[in-house]
Amino acid sequence: MKVTIVGAGAVGASCAEYIAIKDFASEVVLIDIKEGYAEGKAMDLMQTASLNGFDTKISGSTNDYSKTANSDVAVITSGIPRKPGMTREELIGINAGIVKTVTQSILEHSPNAIFIVVSNPMDTMAYLTHKALGLPKNRIIGMGGALDSARFKYRLAEALECPSSDVNGIVIGGHSDTGMIPLSRLAVRNSIPVNKFLSEERITEVVEATKVGGATLTKLLGTSAWYAPGAAVSSMVQSIACDQKKMFPCSALLEGEYGLNDLSIGVPCIIGKNGIEQIVELDLNDAEKNKLQESATAVKKTNGLLDV
Ligand code: LAC
Repeated sequence: MKVTIVGAGAVGASCAEYIAIKDFASEVVLIDIKEGYAEGKAMDLMQTASLNGFDTKISGSTNDYSKTANSDVAVITSGIPRKPGMTREELIGINAGIVKTVTQSILEHSPNAIFIVVSNPMDTMAYLTHKALGLPKNRIIGMGGALDSARFKYRLAEALECPSSDVNGIVIGGHSDTGMIPLSRLAVRNSIPVNKFLSEERITEVVEATKVGGATLTKLLGTSAWYAPGAAVSSMVQSIACDQKKMFPCSALLEGEYGLNDLSIGVPCIIGKNGIEQIVELDLNDAEKNKLQESATAVKKTNGLLDV
């Protein structure tokens, strides 16, 4: 399994680190436009191999896509991250051009790659990748819901005063501060609905904190987060590499599922060796359906800014 990560910034490097530590890939190639940067990150990470006990070979390249040839998975993190006070949508102008160019370069050298798109505004960048590459829809996956769900579980565990491993919950909809839909009705602590333990008011607080999870970190860090995004991507790559068929909410191209068409948005997906192997259609209640429709309308509005 060869994985290319485009963008050796914080998210890309953190993703490479988690992939290496989990030791399921034979090779990870980091690629970046900044001279020597990917090579440096790769060397630094390789010097942890004996300490962390992994055999994954990590290499770096300054913009030489021939080094990425025959990758099985390509993770796209390139583009600029948001600064405090910015929405993900405001990044579209710069990131659209970058994502289009790098995904085309990857495909040229890796005709069978599965793409995981991380760059923001993520749902729109995933949609752009579909439009630019014209690949079967299972091969382009947007990473948002896996991260947002991890943040939801963090907030649930905090409210429940229990370990995150005791809770489960998913977030669907667009990967944006207003578009995310943490499905609190389905959230559980060891199979028991969380409303058994938490007041409606507390659950609302958890939902709202989840939705601004990325913005909260951007304010604290001065740039967007990397550990949880990197870990979320690495779990998705592992599900593809090891054909685990795990379910993650991912931004998938919808063709009638959930009554939606012609956009990429977060819905539960089974991820295996073929990428998105199944889109799981949940029985949403009317309020949840309305929120998904609203979220889809907002994503489509951002998609409308694309030149595709
Ligand atoms: C975040 C970025 C990766 O939510 O979108 O942290």
